[in-house]
Order: sequence, then structure tokens, then C-alpha cells
Amino acid sequence: MNSLYSDLAKVYDAMYATFIDYKDEYEFYSEVLKKYNKKSLLEIGSGTGNLTTYFKKNGFEYLGFDLNEEMLEIARIKNPDCIYIKGDMRSFKLEKPVESIIMTGRTISYLLSNQDVESTLKSIHNNLEKGGVFCFDFIDANKFIPEISEGKEITHEASYDNIYYVRKSKWNLNLKQGMDFIWESNYYKKEGKKLIEIGKDNSIIRTFTINEIEIFLQINNFEIRKIIKKKSYAFPTYAIIALKK
Ligand SMILES: C[S@@+](CC[C@H](N)C(=O)[O-])C[C@H]1O[C@@H](n2cnc3c(N)ncnc32)[C@H](O)[C@@H]1O
Repeated sequence: MNSLYSDLAKVYDAMYATFIDYKDEYEFYSEVLKKYNKKSLLEIGSGTGNLTTYFKKNGFEYLGFDLNEEMLEIARIKNPDCIYIKGDMRSFKLEKPVESIIMTGRTISYLLSNQDVESTLKSIHNNLEKGGVFCFDFIDANKFIPEISEGKEITHEASYDNIYYVRKSKWNLNLKQGMDFIWESNYYKKEGKKLIEIGKDNSIIRTFTINEIEIFLQINNFEIRKIIKKKSYAFPTYAIIALKK
């Protein structure tokens, strides 16, 4: 069951604060928006609101958007004066179009079917002003898929607020419909030498080739401006800058 963004939302928030440098992420995306003179943005998959604070502090008009109430609850506590919308990226309509849309932390990897990708890109296109910027990242299939060692256990550890978290994951290929993998993970708190299980997550994650992303954007009336190799804590990624035609 996929529970990382529901039952485990608080654990996500604590662990990812140590895995991801959100200031660096903010700097990357805000530089893109500044380059294209965009002041308003929608963040799809805004999660626990870690980028919101930076965007608000720096004068951007920010809207958050996420599917999971548990993630939104944490984001709203951190940023009480900010608007967060609960919705599904595959079908949404804002009150008015925005100048830019960002989608970070490889959120696109939850779009498992081509139809899901199509409907999401259509929604994004409809909710952007003409010339609007769409900037997002994705897991690079070319780098990631051949590197997967079936069944090998990978441990990630993080210490936050004096709590020591451990995650043991297994990645297994799932090539039924695309370049996907199944990510099974068990989450623990460490007390002394003892590991106490606090939850499990089982998700299918999609990776993409650059070529697939290019085709999806072209057929949905986006013009690709730049493809940038980007560092990520666990996955080799690229970021794309595209403009609504
Ligand atoms: C990998 S997390 C990234 C969160 C945040 N951007 C970060 O970097 O910490 C993916 C986020 O996408 C959200 N999400 C997944 N499927 C979604 C959908 N169909 N529509 C909107 N949000 C979705 C999840 O709830 C989660 O918060």
C-alpha cells in the first residue's frame, strides 16, 4: 500500500528534511522563474510545504497543490497564510491561469500510464497563461533502470528532532507497462540498538527516458527550452524547462 504520503506523512517530513536540500531546490526553480519573468506559480505535489516558505519569503505568488490531505495538513501548519488546494494533477481547474507551474521531487513518477501523463499535461497546459513556464524533474530511466539490483536491501538513515529514523528499501523492476520499479520500504525508529517498526510503504514508481518526455511535451503543445542534468539524493534526474505554446 502506498502510505508514504498519508499514514507516514510526518515521517516523510522529518526524513526528507535531511535527504533533500530544499534551499538548493528553491534556488534552482526560482532562478528559472526569474529568467522568464514569472512571479506567480503553482507547485504540483507540494508535499509538506518545504519550498513554500522560500517562495513566499521571496515575494512569489505561490499556490500549493497536492493529492494527500495528510501532506497538506503539515504544509498548512508550516505556512498558515498560504493557499493549498487538494486535488489530482490528472484533472484540475484553477480559478485563473498562473504564470508558471513547477513539479519537483520526481512527482511525475506517480503517473503510471501514458493516459495519466497525457491528462496531467493537458490540465497543466489549460491552467497556464500563454508563454507560461512548466518546470519539472523526472527519474532518468537510462541511468536508473539498468542499475537496479533486484532484491538488494538499501538502507537510508536520518536523524531529525533527536529521533533516529531508518528506512530499509528494496527496488524490483516492474516492466509490465513501462520502465517502472516497485519500491518496498519498511520504516523504523531506532532506540538504542533496537529498531521499532513505524510503517511500511509499497509503491510503483515510473521512470522516463528523455525521449519519452520530449514526445509527451511536443504532442501537448509545449516548447522545450532546456534539459538540465540535476543532482538528487537517491535518483539520477533531469529537469525540463518548457513553455506553453
Ligand atoms: C515525491 S513527493 C514530493 C513532494 C515535494 N515536492 C518534495 O520535494 O518534498 C510527491 C508528492 O506528490 C503528491 N502526489 C502524488 N500523486 C499526485 C496526484 N495525482 N496529484 C497531486 N499530487 C500528487 C504526493 O502526495 C506527494 O506529496
